Amino acid sequence: MPHLFSPIKIKNIELKNRIVVSPMCEYSSTDGFANDWHLVHLGSRAVGGAALIITEAIAVSPEGRITYGDLGIYKDDHIENLKRITNFAHQHGAYIGTQLAHAGRKASHDLPWKGGKQVPADEPNGWHAVAPSALAFTDTEIAPIALDKAGIEKIKADFKVAAKRSLDAGFDVIELHGAHGYLINEFLSPLSNHRTDEYGGSFENRIRFLLEVIESVQEVWPAENPLFVRISATEWTEDGWTADDSVALAKVLINKGVDLIDCSSGGNVATAKIPVKPGYQVEFAEKVKKESGILTGAVGMITEPKQADEIIQEGEADLVIMAREFLRDPYFPLRAAHVLNEDVKWPLQYERAKWQ
Ligand SMILES: Cc1cc2nc3c(=O)[nH]c(=O)nc-3n(C[C@H](O)[C@H](O)[C@H](O)COP(=O)(O)O)c2cc1C
Repeated sequence: MPHLFSPIKIKNIELKNRIVVSPMCEYSSTDGFANDWHLVHLGSRAVGGAALIITEAIAVSPEGRITYGDLGIYKDDHIENLKRITNFAHQHGAYIGTQLAHAGRKASHDLPWKGGKQVPADEPNGWHAVAPSALAFTDTEIAPIALDKAGIEKIKADFKVAAKRSLDAGFDVIELHGAHGYLINEFLSPLSNHRTDEYGGSFENRIRFLLEVIESVQEVWPAENPLFVRISATEWTEDGWTADDSVALAKVLINKGVDLIDCSSGGNVATAKIPVKPGYQVEFAEKVKKESGILTGAVGMITEPKQADEIIQEGEADLVIMAREFLRDPYFPLRAAHVLNEDVKWPLQYERAKWQ
């Protein structure tokens, strides 16, 4: 029976444990460039013993950024600073992935600590957001521009170049951001996708954009490298995307060469009531895993070593993906190993602090 510190092989990488750093936007870039903040933020978690670190949502185009402070991978010039981070992670025994993203109708917002409001296109740091349909996220926001066919093709091409740059920058994993109400999620959901062409309507049509993005990425991303997709497994509304839709999608994705589904939820319906509590999304990772056979990652209010270990031991998910606890404690994996009586390698520089 695997446990939190059992290794797992996914395509050409073997993770040393099941603990993954979840993507976390830092809103600390200028024109998409990674900088010292990103090196220290991601690097600390590599030193802290995570097996895999996934970068924050990294925009495939400038207009695909949530804010003007988002990390980007829309220029060749972005590669050099990212490579410094992947090298550092590798030196410390961690694998590292990019979360390739397009914010769709949630683009062009201010930084959270400046209020996070939508920035209109005619104001500094604002631009026109695009989406499957011209439906605003909230009543008070400006509606996005509905993508035409050329717009869809351009975004698919942006994902492809971004995947190639991810490879050149030394990333081991790509995770496509299909959750939280951003562009891919907007196509998946019948609530944000009212298209009448081949990208809207039926389930098969609504998943088409994601499948085509996957195909674009796979033209440059080697088949032996892991490819993950993060989804919002439910929208927590009556008429939206459901957990059964997530299982149906997983059955398609497994045959497309996707290795793992990172099961988050919500974010596409501003009024949805989400019953947040410890491990509140684990049930989706379990359902998708058991009903489709694909590997899954569980995320959401996983904060304790024993809680994380039980998720793996009980076969509810293959990976435990953690965000905020890693902000409180970059060394969570080292602490968890101590709590669970596992002997793990510490960074040589920190070895004298190892609990005996
Ligand atoms: C500061 C912050 C930034 C986040 N940015 C992203 C992101 O870029 N992409 C994403 O998929 N989720 C993002 N999330 C969501 C987390 O990855 C995670 O799914 C969520 O916080 C629940 O996990 P937790 O309870 O362990 O924090 C972010 C969360 C936080 C706290």
